[in-house]
Amino acid sequence: MAFLIHNRDLPQSLHYRPLRYLNMKIAFVGKGGSGKTTLSSLFIRHLVANEAPVLAVDADINQHLGAALGLDEAAAAALPAMGAHLPLIKEYLRGTNPRIPSAETMIKTTPPGEGSRLLRIREDNPVYDACARPVRLDDGEIRLMATGPFTESDLGVACYHSKVGAVELCLNHLVDGPDEYLVVDMTAGSDSFASGMFTRFDMTFLVAEPTRKGVSVYRQYKEYARDFGVALRVVGNKVQGMEDVDFLREEIGDDLLVTVGHSDWVRSMEKGRPARFELLEAENRMALQSLQNTADDSYRHRDWERYTRQMVHFHLKNAESWGNAKTGADLAAQVDPGFVLGEGLGAVQPA
Ligand SMILES: Nc1ncnc2c1ncn2[C@@H]1O[C@H](COP(=O)(O)OP(=O)(O)OP(=O)(O)O)[C@@H](O)[C@H]1O
Ligand SMILES: [Mg+2]
Repeated sequence: MAFLIHNRDLPQSLHYRPLRYLNMKIAFVGKGGSGKTTLSSLFIRHLVANEAPVLAVDADINQHLGAALGLDEAAAAALPAMGAHLPLIKEYLRGTNPRIPSAETMIKTTPPGEGSRLLRIREDNPVYDACARPVRLDDGEIRLMATGPFTESDLGVACYHSKVGAVELCLNHLVDGPDEYLVVDMTAGSDSFASGMFTRFDMTFLVAEPTRKGVSVYRQYKEYARDFGVALRVVGNKVQGMEDVDFLREEIGDDLLVTVGHSDWVRSMEKGRPARFELLEAENRMALQSLQNTADDSYRHRDWERYTRQMVHFHLKNAESWGNAKTGADLAAQVDPGFVLGEGLGAVQPA
C-alpha cells in the first residue's frame, strides 16, 4: 500500500491546478539510495501532467534518471554525456564575450557576461542538439540531459569535476522563462558545495530516509545552505509508519515538507511493468503537488542579482584555488562587473 503520512501543505483537491506557472530551477539531493532519482522522475511526470515544459538533468553519480523516466536500457545508454561535450558547450556559451578569448580558459564557474550566449528551456540550440534527448512520457515530452556515467576512477579526480562542471556551466547560463522548470537529480556531494552548484536552485528538495544517515546528510547540507540563502526542504522517503514520521519531525522540524511511503506504482515500474502515470497513488500525487506548490512559492524569492553575485563569488574562489594555475590566466578578469543574469532579454545591462 502506498500512503502519505504527513503533508502540511496538502492542496484542497487532488485535481488542484495552479492558476499560473512559474519558472523554476529545482534540485533533488540526498544520500545514495534515498530515492532522489525516483522522486525526481515522479516530480517530472507530475509537472508534465500539469502541462509545464521541463528540462531534466541527470547529474547523479548513478545515472538512472533516464531509466526512471521509462527509457529502455539501450536508449538510456545512448544518452549523450554532457561531460564529453564540454568543449562544444564552452565554445557555444562564450559567444563573443570579449572577456573569454578562448574555450580553454573557460572553467566550470566562468560566469556569463556581455556577449555570452544564454540557454533557454524551450529553444533549440547546439548544446541541446549535442547533449539533450527528447523523452516521451504519458502526458507529454521533456528534454533530458545527462552528465554521463561516472566510473570508479572519475571520483575525486578532474574528470568527475568536469562532468558536473558541464551542468554547472549550463545552469549559470540558463535563463528559465515563465512557466518552465529545470529539474536536476544530483548527489549531495562535496563537489556541489565547492563549486557553488548548490546555490543555483530556487528550491532544493533533500530526500531523506528516516535514518540517522539520512538526517546527517540533511544537517550537512543545511549548514552550507544557510550562508547562501539556499531554500531547502526535506522530503521523507520510504517512511513506514508514525514512528518514522515522528523521527523525521523531531530531527528535521519545520524543514520537513512531506513524507512518502512505499509506492506500488514505483515498484511496478521497477519490474518493467509501468502503469500509466494517472494511476500513481493519490497520496503520492498529492505529495508531488505539494512539492510543486512549494517550488512555485520559492520563485518569489528569486533574486537575479544575488544569483549573479554568488556565481561570481564561487568563480573567484575556484579561480584562486585551482583555475588560474590550471589555465595560466587571471580568471578574475572574466567577471563582467556590470552584468546581471535575468529574464527578458536574458541579460540586463545597466547603463
Ligand atoms: N517511495 C518509494 N516506493 C517504492 N520504491 C522506492 C521508493 N523510493 C525509492 N524506491 C526504490 O528504492 C531504490 C533507490 O531509489 P533511487 O534510485 O531513486 O535512489 P537514489 O537516491 O537516486 O539512489 P542513487 O544514489 O543510487 O542514485 C530504487 O529501487 C527505487 O525504486
Ligand atoms: Mg539516483
